[in-house]
Amino acid sequence: MAPSLWEKIEETKKFIQARTNIKPHIGIILGTGLGALAEKIEEKEVIPYRDIPNFAVSTAPGQEGNLILGRLGGKEVMAMQGRFHLYEGYSLEVITFPVRVMRAMGAAFLIESNAAGGINPNFRAGDLMVITDHINLTGHNPLIGPNDERLGPRFPDMSEPYDNELIELAERIALEERIKLHKGVYAGVTGPNFETRAEYRFLYRIGADAVGMSTVPEVIVAKHSGLRVLGISCITDECVPDRLEPVDSDKVISVARKAEPRMTKLVKRIITEM
Ligand code: HPA
Repeated sequence: MAPSLWEKIEETKKFIQARTNIKPHIGIILGTGLGALAEKIEEKEVIPYRDIPNFAVSTAPGQEGNLILGRLGGKEVMAMQGRFHLYEGYSLEVITFPVRVMRAMGAAFLIESNAAGGINPNFRAGDLMVITDHINLTGHNPLIGPNDERLGPRFPDMSEPYDNELIELAERIALEERIKLHKGVYAGVTGPNFETRAEYRFLYRIGADAVGMSTVPEVIVAKHSGLRVLGISCITDECVPDRLEPVDSDKVISVARKAEPRMTKLVKRIITEM
């Protein structure tokens, strides 16, 4: 019989625990062009995804594909340098599997970063946004199928997917560091195409401030498993229908890389004060 999700999580956990003594308190997922935070992790063990049982490999541009365990801001962390996306053809179980492993290894928190299009007309390319809520527009849900009660409840609450205390902490630190930080709603889509003008208009009208091709499935699984979540988007392109310019992944990566020092500074201080 094929191993259950629970058995796969246990197998991967044991593999990682055999490589490191780190007991991660915080899981971190680093998105497109935002992998540099990983360089700040000390006493680290770097494990390429291709070596880890039950892990997929990163095929997205600008994403390294390493799991890194170590210390950051005085905390033990487990960071993913690069993530898995629906547009790569992976199932949601595969995409969200690392979040399950983080939880199984003892993490209590998940910090998410991503590159996103700015729907809110006040946002500029290069700005950062702390995610207050999300809209799942992927047409999928990682919790569909039999529910293993050991992993979480059948019908998880989503009244506070992003932790209010962590949002407040992020805002206070951004103010102290003089980093401009918007607050807003992230709409999660599958990609891989960027949206049409009509779709951007729709996203604006339904209350989205930013749109991207990741994060939402991971956060659903994080909440299901009881993790407290903080999400920060780097706005890489301005998605205002009446002044829309063509975008491509090189542009997205280069804007994210420019914002990376601010993202890194912000997240490192947040972890220090968590
Ligand atoms: N749409 C979807 N995903 C994105 C975008 C966008 O405009 N920019 C960066 N990621």
